[in-house]
Amino acid sequence: MATTLDVNGKSLTVKAAPDTPLLWVLRDELQLTGTKFGCGMAQCGACTVLMDGQAIRACVTPIEAVGAAKITTIEGLGGTHPVQAAWIKHDVAQCGYCQSGQIMSAVALLATKPKPSDADIDGAMDGNICRCGTYQRVRAAIKDAAGMTPAAAPAAQPAKA
Ligand code: FES
Ligand code: FES
Repeated sequence: MATTLDVNGKSLTVKAAPDTPLLWVLRDELQLTGTKFGCGMAQCGACTVLMDGQAIRACVTPIEAVGAAKITTIEGLGGTHPVQAAWIKHDVAQCGYCQSGQIMSAVALLATKPKPSDADIDGAMDGNICRCGTYQRVRAAIKDAAGMTPAAAPAAQPAKA
């Protein structure tokens, strides 16, 4: 069955059953593989994308629930978004697997809270799990992207002899 979706500003028609999770369509039909599969059960946040500006879990969002809403994936940020620039500046990513989901949640947060408190950040990012433990850098990058004074990114430790 053909469904038309608005993804990253383009109207795209995909052939998939209405109950197909958006994540599968993004990755397998549209080759937008920046959005990751982690748990498939709305528990990890790796699949976070924006739907009309709100962070959602693409793994549990059937395409029939999307309708005419505007979907934005990490590719739709264009690589030059202030949040992406702050992520690079603070060297946030380690393995990188969770990072597109983290960035999308951060973008959604800043759209509603341009100057978020630590509690705002922790609350908004609570559902984005990072096995590498980059949480302090995530917080610093979000504050930097918001034009707030971030805590210095932790310096790399020299290897011990
Ligand atoms: S893959 Fe969607 S929340 Fe984990
Ligand atoms: S950077 Fe590795 S899981 Fe988050």
